[in-house]
Amino acid sequence: MRVFIAGATGAIGRQLVPLLQGAGHDVSALVRDPARAPAGVRAMRGDVLDRASVMDAVLEAQPDAIVHEATADPSANNPRRMRAALAPTSRLRTEGTANLLAAADAAGTGRFLAQSIAFAYAPRGPRVVDEDAPLNLDAPRQLRSVVEAIADLERQVLGASGVVLRYGWFYGPGTSFASDGDTARMVRRRGLPIPGGGAGMWSFVHVRDAAEATVAALEVNGPRVYNVVDDHPAPLSEWLPEYARLLGAKAPLRLPLWPVRLAGGPIAAEGMTQQRGASNARARAELGWSPRHADWRGGFAEELAVAGS
Ligand SMILES: NC(=O)c1ccc[n+]([C@@H]2O[C@H](COP(=O)([O-])OP(=O)(O)OC[C@H]3O[C@@H](n4cnc5c(N)ncnc54)[C@H](OP(=O)(O)O)[C@@H]3O)[C@@H](O)[C@H]2O)c1
Repeated sequence: MRVFIAGATGAIGRQLVPLLQGAGHDVSALVRDPARAPAGVRAMRGDVLDRASVMDAVLEAQPDAIVHEATADPSANNPRRMRAALAPTSRLRTEGTANLLAAADAAGTGRFLAQSIAFAYAPRGPRVVDEDAPLNLDAPRQLRSVVEAIADLERQVLGASGVVLRYGWFYGPGTSFASDGDTARMVRRRGLPIPGGGAGMWSFVHVRDAAEATVAALEVNGPRVYNVVDDHPAPLSEWLPEYARLLGAKAPLRLPLWPVRLAGGPIAAEGMTQQRGASNARARAELGWSPRHADWRGGFAEELAVAGS
């Protein structure tokens, strides 16, 4: 297939490109700075938010599939930075998706895959949910704008018979959980506490596993939604102390909820106490995919040991 990627220079993009090339696909990418384009990729200069540039690039590339992996802030999985990251990332999800879909339509591109998140489920019902669970559209206002952008992206993509990949929290090279990443820095400073018991459930996925699921999803006929996560959703109170230990950091502080809500806002507070984990049963069954890093424990240990060696 001719595959066109927006976000090829990002954490998942850098994993995705060589996998696609290895599978025999021909890869082109929309990049704001062609000097940063991954090796072997046909780089087309453009910006997801500039419809004319997206249109020109896609019409020139004539792809069979478009993959939307653009996000506006590399620190997006640092809860304390999320507030600042929200608006630009939401625009990439709403306007960016509309621009890419318009270009797909103009070029007759039959397949469209877009990223979403597996941690935007409503905090009701089971602690681990599948793709049919409702999104958190009743969230507090600040968080609701994020979920509304996610829901808008998903509506657009599914309306065009595309595939939505709800990725879990990325870890691995180039992510904020890597030993040189923002989350690692914050945990070393004891800046990421466990508030109110830390019962919020987190589903992680190694970026390479996420990329492998994405390659597999190119074969799916949409509309379809998949959680792309590992096998072991875990509460904050479990994974954060283990992550801190592996980093060689002091144990995280245990705090009441209110100071965290005050400092980090409702997004941080919800994530830490009420967030739902996600099940990967559908992706396992339908994509012929299983995560090589099935358990974040082993995955974290492997990543941080490699970084430390
Ligand atoms: N990080 C997570 O834990 C997580 C979890 C679930 C879902 N996701 C989603 O998965 C996707 C990939 O995340 P990631 O961690 O790989 O992101 P990342 O490392 O921050 O990379 C973002 C990519 O988007 C590109 N980009 C940003 N704005 C653009 C624009 N206006 N036009 C064209 N390209 C633009 C960047 O290109 P430049 O080189 O030009 O900057 C970069 O390639 C994102 O959509 C994210 O929301 C992430």
